[in-house]
Amino acid sequence: MPDQPSASPMPELFTWEFATDPYPAYAWLREHSPVHRTVLPSGVEAWLVTRYADARQALADQRLSKNPAHHAGSAHAKGRTGIPGERKAELMTHLLNIDPPDHTRLRRLVSKAFTPRTVAEFAPRVRELTDGLIDRFATQGSADLIHDFAFPLPIYAICDLLGVPREDQDDFRDWAGMMIRHGGGPRGGVARSVKKMRAYLAELIHRKREAPGDDLISGLIRASDHGEHLTENEAAAMAFILLFAGFETTVNLIGNGMYALLRHPEQRERLQRALARGDEQLLATGVEELLRYDGPVELATWRYATEPLTLGGRDIAAGDPVLVVLAAADRDPERFADPDTLDLARRDNQHLGYGHGIHYCLGAPLARLEGQTAIATLLRRLPDVRLAGDPDDLRWRGGLIMRGLRTLPVEFAAET
Ligand code: HEM
Repeated sequence: MPDQPSASPMPELFTWEFATDPYPAYAWLREHSPVHRTVLPSGVEAWLVTRYADARQALADQRLSKNPAHHAGSAHAKGRTGIPGERKAELMTHLLNIDPPDHTRLRRLVSKAFTPRTVAEFAPRVRELTDGLIDRFATQGSADLIHDFAFPLPIYAICDLLGVPREDQDDFRDWAGMMIRHGGGPRGGVARSVKKMRAYLAELIHRKREAPGDDLISGLIRASDHGEHLTENEAAAMAFILLFAGFETTVNLIGNGMYALLRHPEQRERLQRALARGDEQLLATGVEELLRYDGPVELATWRYATEPLTLGGRDIAAGDPVLVVLAAADRDPERFADPDTLDLARRDNQHLGYGHGIHYCLGAPLARLEGQTAIATLLRRLPDVRLAGDPDDLRWRGGLIMRGLRTLPVEFAAET
C-alpha cells in the first residue's frame, strides 16, 4: 500500500527544525503514513510507527525482536542503535538487546535486587543530592539547569544506588558526559569511555563479590532464581545498562520537564500552589504528563521483525527494523484529549513514555522519584525561576533515541 496522497507535503525528518520541534512532522505521519518506511541518517532503512494503537501493539508483539542479529542488514546496523560501543559482544547481553527466554531470566534476577522498596528507601538520598546540587548555585541568581543540575543528579543517584564509592563518581560523570555529548559522534572518545566504565565495573563487581555491601551491585551478585545466578559478565552488563538507560533519560525528563513548565506559567503556578499546600498529587500526575508531553525517549529502541507481519495496514518483511515513535504516539488525538495541551492534572494518561510490554522501563520507580524530587525542589527553592534569554536560541539534542536540551539557562532571585 503506497503512502496516501495528501495536500500538505511531508515535513522533512531528522533536520535541525525537526530536532527543535518534531511534533508537526509526527502529526503529519500519524495522519498520512502512520507506519512509514524511511531512510535514517545512518543510511539504514526502517519503519516508523507513530499512532498510539499501533505503537502499543508493536511494543508488545513478540514477533518483533530486540536482538540486532535479526536485522536483515545486521552487519550494517550494528553499532547504530544509539548505545555507544555496542559492537562489543559483552554488551550485547543486556536487557534491551535480548528476547525471551534469556530476557525473562535476566529481568527476573535483576527485579529481585532492584525492587520498588530499594527505590523507596533511596528517597532521602535523592532529596539530599538534589538539595546539595541546588546549594551550589542557589546564591548565584543564575544557572544552567542541564549542566549544573539535571546532568549530575541521575549519575550520582545511580552510582550511589549501585554502590560506586563517592570518590569514583566524578569519573563516571565524565565518562557519561562523553557518551551524552558524542552519543553517535566521534567513536574514539566514546569507545574509550565505555571501555573504562566496563573495566571499572568488572573490577567493582569483583570487589563486591569478595566483600558484599548493602548496594545494588551486591544485590545483583546475590540474586538467584531456582539456583541460577548472574555471571560476572551479566552483572557487569546489567550495571552498565542501568547506568546507561537511567542516565540521559532522567537528564531529559528533568530538562524537558522544567522547560515545559517554564513555557507554561499557569501550569507551573498551579503546581507551585499545590506544593505550597502540601498536596503532592499534582506533582505525581504532573510528572507523568511532562513525560507524555515531551518525553525523553523519542523513539523506543530498535525492534526487528522475525517473520513477515502486518502493522497498521503495512506489510513488514522479516529482518526489517521497526522504530516505535513514543513521542508521536503520546500526542495521538485518537488516544489523548487535546494532546498538544499540557495539563498537569490529566487523568487517563496511559502514556508510552516508559514503553510497554516485557521491556517496560525497569527504572520507572527511580525515574519518578528523581523527576518528582527534582522538579518539586527546584520550584520550592527557586520560586521565581525563569528562562534566561530567548527560547528560540535553545539547542536541542535530537538523537534518534533521545530528545533533550543541550543547555537550559535560568535566572532567579538568589538565596541569601
Ligand atoms: C527500558 C524510558 C529511566 C532502566 C526503558 C524503555 C523506555 C524507558 C521507553 C523501553 C525501551 C524499549 O522497549 O525499547 C525511560 C524514561 C526514563 C527512564 C523515560 C526517565 C524518565 C530509567 C532509569 C533506569 C532505567 C532511572 C534505571 C536505573 C531501564 C532498563 C530498561 C529500560 C534496565 C530495559 C528493560 C527491559 O528491556 O526489560 N526505559 N527510562 N530507566 N529502562 Fe528506562
